[in-house]
Amino acid sequence: MAPRTDEKAISLRTERVKRGTPAEPQELSQGFPATRLRRNRRADWSRRLVRETHLTADDLIWPIFVIDGDRAREEVNAMPGVARLSIDLAVRGAEDAAEIGLPAIALFPYTDPSLRDEAGSEAFNPGNLVCRAVRAIKQAVPQIGIICDVALDPYTIHGHDGLLDEDGRINNDRSVEALVTQALVQAGAGCDVLAPSDMMDGRVGAIRAALEANGHADTQIMSYAAKYASAFYGPFRDAVGSGAQLHGDKKTYQMDPANSAEAIREVKFDVIEGADMVMVKPGLPYLDIVWRIKEAFGLPTFAYQTSGEYAALVAAAENGWLDRERVVLETLLAFKRAGADGVFSYFAPEVARRLKDQF
Ligand code: PBG
Repeated sequence: MAPRTDEKAISLRTERVKRGTPAEPQELSQGFPATRLRRNRRADWSRRLVRETHLTADDLIWPIFVIDGDRAREEVNAMPGVARLSIDLAVRGAEDAAEIGLPAIALFPYTDPSLRDEAGSEAFNPGNLVCRAVRAIKQAVPQIGIICDVALDPYTIHGHDGLLDEDGRINNDRSVEALVTQALVQAGAGCDVLAPSDMMDGRVGAIRAALEANGHADTQIMSYAAKYASAFYGPFRDAVGSGAQLHGDKKTYQMDPANSAEAIREVKFDVIEGADMVMVKPGLPYLDIVWRIKEAFGLPTFAYQTSGEYAALVAAAENGWLDRERVVLETLLAFKRAGADGVFSYFAPEVARRLKDQF
């Protein structure tokens, strides 16, 4: 009869090892000096041998800002080294991205101010900038994945992700209808992954149903499931031109940075509604959320190293206060260690290039 308990003990122990939780004290050797944790760290080969987390180009998604024009390149304020690119240059960028092994890019249009209105109508135009960019890139670089935001902020004069009622409040259900139309237009242009970043309730289910009903059953949805009302988005809003005219803030739809359990509920509903992958945003200050979500659901979980995080790191590096190469790699590795399957990062091309040179 004794083996039963042994088996149980062994299986409990295996379970703990699988989850990476420490063994009970009685299972350990005598402790120091039998155990000296520094032994495994003593040489580069040994550190490599015991390393738990690795970063590769496969983990990175490159966000690209797109503008109208030909051979046009406009530097983005507060994001040194990042530029808005006309479609021809975005195609070249996508070719480079594929070459250095990046699996996917995310496109963000800067819509001409004359095309913005109260209803965000340009979002529903199958010939709009982002749709033209998707078609051009799909044709030139069919092997790279294309991700498009579903949200109205690049198209509305008030800079909100949804539609406003006369009293200035966001109308959730009308917004969802508009987002569904935008999603279908982008899927029709050939976008591979739709990424609703609007945080309206019920949008994932509505978009999923519309995709199924309109011949886009294979179009993936990566929901910005836990997206916080953050001060880290400033440079991005400048890049897409939605910041200057933003009326008020986004606190009635984006999450309160103080909340964590609520993120689990957000993800749960998005998954029930049909999200294939989920995302947490911002990135580094929210790694606890990434970890909780990965632990709770185990599904493909992404994080967004936002424009503000990029700006902060680049500013410090440009002042000579931080070592850019090392600090960037360290942040991206931290995302992986926290359980992220991939990271949206404006550093993606430089990092993928560096990783490639190492092999
Ligand atoms: C639009 C959107 C934002 C970002 C991605 N999609 C800004 C916002 O919600 O105001 C932020 C990206 C970044 O800061 O890099 N809904």
